[in-house]
Amino acid sequence: MKNRYPMPERKWFLWLAIVGLVGVMFFVATMIRSSDTFCPETRILTRTRVSEDYNPTAIQLKAILHYATSRVVPQQSLPEIKISFDVLKSLGRPSKFLVFGLGHDSLMWASFNPHGTTLFLEEDPKWVQAVLKDAPNLRAHTVRYRTQLRDADVLLSSYRSEPACFPSRAYLRDNNVCKLALDNLPEEVYNTEWDLIMIDAPKGYFAEAPGRMAAVYSAAVMARGRKGSGVTHVFLHDVDRKVEKDYAEEFLCRKNLVKSVGRLWHFEIPPQSNDIDAPRFC
Ligand SMILES: C[S@@+](CC[C@H](N)C(=O)[O-])C[C@H]1O[C@@H](n2cnc3c(N)ncnc32)[C@H](O)[C@@H]1O
Repeated sequence: MKNRYPMPERKWFLWLAIVGLVGVMFFVATMIRSSDTFCPETRILTRTRVSEDYNPTAIQLKAILHYATSRVVPQQSLPEIKISFDVLKSLGRPSKFLVFGLGHDSLMWASFNPHGTTLFLEEDPKWVQAVLKDAPNLRAHTVRYRTQLRDADVLLSSYRSEPACFPSRAYLRDNNVCKLALDNLPEEVYNTEWDLIMIDAPKGYFAEAPGRMAAVYSAAVMARGRKGSGVTHVFLHDVDRKVEKDYAEEFLCRKNLVKSVGRLWHFEIPPQSNDIDAPRFC
């Protein structure tokens, strides 16, 4: 049978195919190597991120177990909780988180900030003991309040004529003249610049209760006194009540209100210089 293709042509075609294949292999190998060379951190980052994501802390595991087996849930709604959750996430670093009140939400707040400092201030020593018995890795202090809810209106109008309460010289530690100042807190509270302050306590729903007046005033003083960069995020719950609303407007200021969801207000309070001897905070 007659050969339709003479030998030299077939050889030429084979060589072309081999050279093409080698070229493609070389191109692919170069691409893989160059992506490692130009972006070596991508591979390292991927590995680090995976190990960080899958490395829960003891408090986070405890929180999952607790909330998965508990019928009692935190009082704040999901959209309200998401406000501080999103702030903690957006800060992207271990944060200093001060929380007024211990409750069914405490383990949740602490586990949202696993490598940071989350400190709780609670008015009722028996409730502190009860909560810490079940969750000994929470950090909590008992706080003595000098106010009663029934005095909220008088305290609000009288602070304006009490220089020890003025924003320009406001201080907390040992300020026993200004009744709104939390004057007797643990040193750690005064010595820390808090990134977030959650006010969901003390009780403020009956006349003899301490009310949240001093918590709101003291949070404003701490936030204004911040020396580091950035703002202090202050969250106030139960703003459907008159006292919470009035005190927020007086001390945390409408101009600092950045979000309002359900019964929660979120303020971003910048540091303030105390040069001007103004009697009002806003
Ligand atoms: C509005 S509650 C804080 C509730 C908390 N944010 C929560 O979601 O559970 C304010 C205060 O009520 C008191 N309290 C809350 N739950 C309590 C309980 N189960 N037993 C006794 N006191 C409680 C504590 O003194 C707390 O600081």
